Amino acid sequence: MAAVGTDAAKVPKLELDNLSVVYRGRAGTLIEAVRDMSLQIADKPGHGEVVVFLGPSGCGKSSILRTVAGLQPATRGEVRLDGVRVDGPSRDRGMVFQQYTSFPWRTVIQNVEYGLEIAGVPARQRRERAMDVIGKVGLTEFAHQLPKSLSGGMKQRVAIARTLVNKPRVLLLDEPFGALDPFVRWEMQSLVLEISRRDDSTILFITHDVEEAVYVADTIFVLSPRPATILHRVDVPFFQSRDPKLKASNEFRDVERRVLDMMYASQAPKAGKDG
Ligand SMILES: Nc1ncnc2c1ncn2[C@@H]1O[C@H](COP(=O)(O)OP(=O)(O)OP(=O)(O)O)[C@@H](O)[C@H]1O
Ligand SMILES: [Mg+2]
Repeated sequence: MAAVGTDAAKVPKLELDNLSVVYRGRAGTLIEAVRDMSLQIADKPGHGEVVVFLGPSGCGKSSILRTVAGLQPATRGEVRLDGVRVDGPSRDRGMVFQQYTSFPWRTVIQNVEYGLEIAGVPARQRRERAMDVIGKVGLTEFAHQLPKSLSGGMKQRVAIARTLVNKPRVLLLDEPFGALDPFVRWEMQSLVLEISRRDDSTILFITHDVEEAVYVADTIFVLSPRPATILHRVDVPFFQSRDPKLKASNEFRDVERRVLDMMYASQAPKAGKDG
């Protein structure tokens, strides 16, 4: 490609540059959720990447994702996507929330088409693109059902499809599978891996489940308790075949144990001295 060797080739796909997020609480108290966080995610043409933020409850994980989504302004520092500063929501950064969000009066396909409707895409194209994405998340048979007739896992597939139909550059998943039972959760993890391989997309994924993190991640950022800072970056070895059998392997368990130790160490009471 022409860009090889130029500066353009070095621009990270996603960059957090000294990002801090501070909320103002009720009585004017300041709540610091994210402190001076910097990280870079390189673009890897030809294959997607799953980046996991793993951290204790309330540490600031959702704040990071909402800032990348442009739903929450940075207090200091900034987020850049392809070198361009994020300053509001955009369809190139699609977010899926922990709580299932869709229009209950719209069928699956009408929900998935919604973003395209807003963008003024003609009806026929809309329908084609929506059906294509619905197929990819395995819901073809349910396209004309209302969300209330679907299981929790299926509802989250709709939420993912609604986001994917906009062809986002970055997919933001904020603990999307927290409410699902383990079996459905495994299926959904496989779906995330499939999407990252097929769509060459960068996926930021939040969880506080260590096994889930190790299973889906190429890179894990282990976060401190609030305010979130990066304690460790773990590059997960590329497991040839990520399938449920992998989870029982020694190689997998070793990585999992290492990450667990990092998390325990970060939450243990400090023994007198800092750092
Ligand atoms: N809009 C807001 N106004 C004030 N404080 C907020 C707001 N949103 C989040 N906070 C506070 O910021 C801190 C981090 O919240 P955040 O939702 O980012 O954490 P989290 O790691 O996603 O938590 P969880 O694991 O429970 O989802 C918390 O103390 C929370 O109370
Ligand atoms: Mg959260």
